[in-house]
Amino acid sequence: MARALVVYESMFGNTEVIAEAIGQALAAEVVEVSDAPDVLPDDVGLLVVGAPTHVMGLSRPVTRRSAADQATEGLVSTGRGVREWLDTLAPLGHHVTAHAFDTRVGTGWPAGSAAKAIAKRLRSLHFTVPGRPVSFHVGGTPGPLLVGEPARAAAWARSVLAGNPA
Ligand SMILES: Cc1cc2nc3c(=O)[nH]c(=O)nc-3n(C[C@H](O)[C@H](O)[C@H](O)COP(=O)(O)O)c2cc1C
Repeated sequence: MARALVVYESMFGNTEVIAEAIGQALAAEVVEVSDAPDVLPDDVGLLVVGAPTHVMGLSRPVTRRSAADQATEGLVSTGRGVREWLDTLAPLGHHVTAHAFDTRVGTGWPAGSAAKAIAKRLRSLHFTVPGRPVSFHVGGTPGPLLVGEPARAAAWARSVLAGNPA
């Protein structure tokens, strides 16, 4: 049977918490992006990719350094980001449905989301992306997640499984 895989990038741990909530709801393997496969295994039928929004889109080395400067504890992602992973991901050899999510502050920043950039890249790699990119919110750059966001992520994942993501 096809399995689900969740791949995430996270500086301060907020996106990781959301990824774990989604992974639990999907009964999926959850991997940090540096450990993600460069060739998607044939038995993966559902891929969910998430990252923090940096400067209205996906992180770059310079924004990850900026995050490191603001961190009071160790970073979760210390290697590549989702941008670099999707740049190297081999073209698909089988049909895979994919969904994109991000975390972001929202207020105080211009509009823009990493999830939109992820969805666009997934489509160009020939993934089927039926849902809209979804954002989960933090109260500030290092977090924390707003109350209820992990539960909202789990509910969103269940709607993905049911075939009608919000
Ligand atoms: C360099 C940098 C740029 C950011 N740019 C944005 C932005 O454009 N919009 C936004 O809403 N949040 C922005 N943020 C806040 C991040 O989205 C927030 O740190 C992230 O959601 C936390 O998730 P994480 O703990 O998984 O890294 C930025 C944060 C950093 C460090």
